Amino acid sequence: MNASTAGGPQAGEVRMYYPSEEFVRQATISGMSAYEALCREAESDYTGYWAKRAREMVTWKTPFTQVLDESNAPFFKWFADGTLNASYNCLDRNLERGLGDKTAIIFEADDGEVTRINYRDLHAKVCQIANGLRSLGVQKGDRVVIYISMSIDGVAAMLACARIGATHSVVFGGFSAQALRDRIEDTRAKVVITADHQIRGGKQLPLKAIVDEALSLGGCDSVERVLVVRRSGAPVNMVQGRDRWMADVVGGQAQTCEPEWVEAEHPLFLLYTSGSTGKPKGVQHSTGGYLVHAALTTAWTFDLKPNDIFWCTADIGWITGHTYIAYGPMALGATQIVFEGVPTFPDASRFWRMIERHKVTIFYTAPTAIRSLIKAAESNDTVHPRNFDLSSLRLLGSVGEPINPAAWEWYYRHVGGERCPIVDTFWQTETGGHVITPLPGATPLVPGSCTLPFPGIMAAVVDETGKDVPNGQGGILVIKRPWPSMIRTIWGDPERFKKSYYPEEFGGKYYLAGDGAIRDAKTGYFTITGRIDDVLNVSGHRMGTMEIESALVAKTDLVAEAAVVGRPDETTGEAICAFVVLKRPLPTGDEARAIAKELRDWVAKEIGPIAKPKDIRFGENLPKTRSGKIMRRLLRSIAKGEAITQDTSTLENPAILDQLGQAY
Ligand code: PRX
Repeated sequence: MNASTAGGPQAGEVRMYYPSEEFVRQATISGMSAYEALCREAESDYTGYWAKRAREMVTWKTPFTQVLDESNAPFFKWFADGTLNASYNCLDRNLERGLGDKTAIIFEADDGEVTRINYRDLHAKVCQIANGLRSLGVQKGDRVVIYISMSIDGVAAMLACARIGATHSVVFGGFSAQALRDRIEDTRAKVVITADHQIRGGKQLPLKAIVDEALSLGGCDSVERVLVVRRSGAPVNMVQGRDRWMADVVGGQAQTCEPEWVEAEHPLFLLYTSGSTGKPKGVQHSTGGYLVHAALTTAWTFDLKPNDIFWCTADIGWITGHTYIAYGPMALGATQIVFEGVPTFPDASRFWRMIERHKVTIFYTAPTAIRSLIKAAESNDTVHPRNFDLSSLRLLGSVGEPINPAAWEWYYRHVGGERCPIVDTFWQTETGGHVITPLPGATPLVPGSCTLPFPGIMAAVVDETGKDVPNGQGGILVIKRPWPSMIRTIWGDPERFKKSYYPEEFGGKYYLAGDGAIRDAKTGYFTITGRIDDVLNVSGHRMGTMEIESALVAKTDLVAEAAVVGRPDETTGEAICAFVVLKRPLPTGDEARAIAKELRDWVAKEIGPIAKPKDIRFGENLPKTRSGKIMRRLLRSIAKGEAITQDTSTLENPAILDQLGQAY
């Protein structure tokens, strides 16, 4: 890469990083003119553009003749009369192309043990699981909840569901029994797939026991079977008639399995994410449109080539692990790393060691991981990436939250050796795949900017009335036309889908991302300015403030009222701050610290450890307007430790501002 400020830096001018000629030459989308040509193609014939991509990227059992059906907007349909199977596209198609011997997954366990599986064996494994599920009566359209950590079994279970047309819903292994129960209840899942334990950072943590607890909480009578993968081998409780070892169910099954050919709109998966109300929403994705964009973005954004060793560090419990582990790379027949552990075990050089060991060429991770590894390297030189041979890398990626320019520069210099482009990919659970991102062989990079829309994505910045705002002026991020991998609905709640993403007050026309954005006056590059709703982003994990508030007030013996806001945090991006009114006199000192701990543990139990508030502040009341609305802007200022500039004259009890000044 060459850094340049075209004609020498001027005041306020940003430094741009250009891909090297060598990178441009070999890139699939090579040069800005190629990018611009694709954008023009999409603009002049939108459906023709996407139809072409859909035919290039995916093998259809029945070719589609319809491309986009907008008759029931905003419930759009793509490629609706086409049929396909996602697992066929990710497995069989690779075997037909002669890739049977190619390594599909290099699995590195927490303790460093490596297991490789090629496409032929992965195909056989997936078929056996699929046959096993069928033998238990799982059919097209049934839901299967997968609660498992990073493993070949996890990816195979997803593909097995896809093979028989069952809709999977993966629940992140860090979620609590209560959160798991809520998701099982909402999906009405027939089967839960889990493991005895998960092993992370040298620790053995329960999975099966949490499933047992979730099912005991009630509301889960849809569940007929629990399938348990052996990971730790340590004993777990097995409920007779309900629980079966995965090995016993799939052991005798045939290694081939006729795929269930599904229509393009058939729900491939549901994935729960946080919104601005208390209840997480089940984002429903299609099979056809989703797979097209998963494969296309993997090919173009990551410039993926047959010899690449691709590593996306996300967990399959999040959308990134769906699109850029389970589906995108597999649909392209790539070799990829699946990692069970954590970046800081046995020490904070784990990522660098693994890149060196497996000769990773494309590395995709989250800013929060980079920031914590920068911190670690600053205090302990032996874990600095400069001590490792990272010369195999040719491309880096970032996802999940804005990457601050300082972290970008460090990543660029110390991990990428000033040679690798960084693709800062903006997208969401709902978008299914990248929507604003550089294409590495085309787009000049600016640290902290996700640059330009992916070709065919009509992203724009508008005001509250839906009118375009000029570049250089901040506004609301929207996508003006439907695209193939977009959310289809919220499972069981189409009204909420409409209200959340196509609200009436906004004309109901554009997809509302929920983020603010600004386009650079000169380059038109997008910078995401953060959520405009009550959604927080903590270490790249999406959390609803209302969700945490609901969890806090559910502690009815202790909590009378709670309000949650975010504040900036150097490492985690945002931190959760809870303001709590107790049903007992205002605590101070050790007592306050003990109650704060009790509340954190409670939230971990209700949602999961990722939702624990970093700061807890107690008051005899919360600051409210005369009409009784909590003054959240004021709470945000308090959380940040800012001087209070808001008008507080309407406060009933100004003394509470002093009380809330103390964080525990
Ligand atoms: O606020 C944006 C932020 O993450 C949100 C989506 O979160 P989730 O659905 O969990 O998906 C995360 C992985 C795709 C967005 O609304 N976000 C994601 N990527 C970026 C980002 N913010 C800035 N820059 C990004 N590259």
